[in-house]
Amino acid sequence: MFDTGIYDLGIPINFDTSLRRAWTTLAPAATDRVLDIGCGSGRMLLHVLPWLRSGGHLTGLDVDPGGLAYAGRRAQQLGVADQVTFVQGNMSDLDPDQIGAFDGAVAHFSVYTLPSDAERRAAIHQVARVLRPRARFVLVVPNECYRARPLVADARRAEGDRKDIPLWLRLVRQWALCSFTEWGTRRNVEKKLDQDIYHRYTAPELVDHLTSAGFRDIHITRTPGLNSYCAWGCLGEPA
Ligand SMILES: C[S@@+](CC[C@H](N)C(=O)[O-])C[C@H]1O[C@@H](n2cnc3c(N)ncnc32)[C@H](O)[C@@H]1O
Repeated sequence: MFDTGIYDLGIPINFDTSLRRAWTTLAPAATDRVLDIGCGSGRMLLHVLPWLRSGGHLTGLDVDPGGLAYAGRRAQQLGVADQVTFVQGNMSDLDPDQIGAFDGAVAHFSVYTLPSDAERRAAIHQVARVLRPRARFVLVVPNECYRARPLVADARRAEGDRKDIPLWLRLVRQWALCSFTEWGTRRNVEKKLDQDIYHRYTAPELVDHLTSAGFRDIHITRTPGLNSYCAWGCLGEPA
């Protein structure tokens, strides 16, 4: 799905807003090295181009080779291939050679796809291992209220408010694209959440997972349209 671009086609506008927000929350310095955990099709690249061009380096990690191939082509097309690295790997089992290698990390709608509490905790612990002390980690996950219908209703509203595209395209996106997104989100995300294959987070659970991995000064905000939480914290000093 990632490889063909179908995933990208169905991305609602509020998902892009959330990606941008995760990045501005991370707020990396110009030459930082940042890890994008579960990078998928590399859509984050669209939102970080000025930072990449100013000398930042993004490493995208994913298990799915199709997504990584698509992300690599995207980086080429955007002219930032020298500033990015894509790595195939499991977020619950990161390369020990990478310990302390990153100045920041973001995981946007990826950790929640791990099927067990133990794996989700392990992934956050692994992130802590590969960050330098005081580095920031931003984690975005669906919350208790996540459903496809309100997400798509919010996307339709946002598409309707757009001034950057002509009316006909706005209508196509509002009614055809958003219907496709609703169908795909029900089938691929909501169903798996309801079956406990994926996970809806609570705020106390996020605090617990982040704290026990060594993150401090934790903040959580709710994104109403997406029914998600954006949580972030900084890694403490080594004991
Ligand atoms: C919903 S997609 C999100 C992609 C991207 N972060 C975004 O927001 O557009 C979830 C991604 O997590 C990846 N993923 C799932 N389990 C993983 C694991 N154990 N290790 C690394 N990536 C994983 C999937 O392959 C997929 O690309």
